Amino acid sequence: MSSDAGSPPRGAGLPAGARKMSLGDRREAARDVFGVSPEDWYATGGSPDVMEISDIMIETAIGCAPIPLGIADGFLIDGEEVSIPMAVEEPSVIAAASFAARLVGRDGGFTTWAAEPLMRAQIFLENVDAAGEARLGRCGDSVRAALAPSLRSMARRGGGYRGLSVARLPETGAVRVEVTIDVRDAMGANLLNTAAELIRPLLENESGGKSLIAILTNDARERLASASFALPVDRLSTGLPAGMGAAEAARRIVAASAIAQEDPGRAVTHNKGIMNGISSLGLATMNDTRALEAAAHAWAARSGRYRGLSQFTEEDGMLRGQLTLPLALATVGGAVGFHPASRASLKILGNPNAQRLARIAAALGLAQNFAAVRALVTSGIQHGHMRFHAARLAWNAGARGEEARRVATALADAGIMDDAAVVAALRRVREEQP
Ligand code: MEV
Repeated sequence: MSSDAGSPPRGAGLPAGARKMSLGDRREAARDVFGVSPEDWYATGGSPDVMEISDIMIETAIGCAPIPLGIADGFLIDGEEVSIPMAVEEPSVIAAASFAARLVGRDGGFTTWAAEPLMRAQIFLENVDAAGEARLGRCGDSVRAALAPSLRSMARRGGGYRGLSVARLPETGAVRVEVTIDVRDAMGANLLNTAAELIRPLLENESGGKSLIAILTNDARERLASASFALPVDRLSTGLPAGMGAAEAARRIVAASAIAQEDPGRAVTHNKGIMNGISSLGLATMNDTRALEAAAHAWAARSGRYRGLSQFTEEDGMLRGQLTLPLALATVGGAVGFHPASRASLKILGNPNAQRLARIAAALGLAQNFAAVRALVTSGIQHGHMRFHAARLAWNAGARGEEARRVATALADAGIMDDAAVVAALRRVREEQP
């Protein structure tokens, strides 16, 4: 409706010096250069504060991208009720999470745990001989001392230096030094990158080699979190297709879980469903969703074959779900706790610390996965998507507010989604209106 049909002129780009312009001027220049319609452009704006924050958070900011923010509710996690904010563009994700949460919540909810928030920085050195490698293995104390000033405030919060390991890579011959740091409530990227760069000269001196790369690894395999639930199989009996009982639904969920262990193609999609929940929570709290995804998928492939991250089993009339994965989620640092939208999400969550946030994320990922797999092996997932598809069609036909909801419901109930059906439903709704 409001999107410009024409493309921007060939080669269109921001004017030279745009980076140095004020946000307002840069925004105007971008709108004009790319020929965006006023309605579409309006959607990339925000309150004056949020706009200013965008401008200091990233380079060449031109606005904000308004991803819908919703709340998945009904979660009982370690005995506590939790509402989970999720920023996501995909229909059904939040509804699915809440559905699974309520189902699991009737029988005790999710049980979770999270490991200590350990992260590693890596320094790769070239031209290190065997004696240099051995000296690196003995330099833990000097590394600890060199890092002490920059880790002082982290140590006060219970975190800090936890150790060093050295290994030679067999193919390149480079020597890898890994420094482990407990980052408490931070994601750790800034802290680890600073630490890695700080100790680079010391490691070069000790080893006689030259450092090539100094950066954290996003492979957060020590920062694991896990969630599980147990549900009487009978609880699966609602909403099943005709002729399918709860026992068969449970059998099919377990079979789908086994297939996700066996077939990498299915495992990718299975895990994508898990990350639907986790990345949406990550985005709502303004955590680094790329880091979360990278670590999760690396963990899924740790055996050498890419596998599903969760497992479902059935025994003695109980269906059990279990999910373990690395979750480098922060509650402070970077945009987390700084951007007002992140603070709002953390407040909704009850201002958890990072370990609690990781536990909530694990429960959410498992709920999301359970809802998806249950739908897939019973009625399919398209059924649940119809309502959202209908809402978009109604909007495109000009329906707004309550009217749009009524048109969408009429379309979803009838199960017909073509243009003529939308126009007819809109006409009917308008005729019915007082
Ligand atoms: C869609 O976003 C997620 C699913 O494909 C997950 C799955 O297949 O398990 C439904």
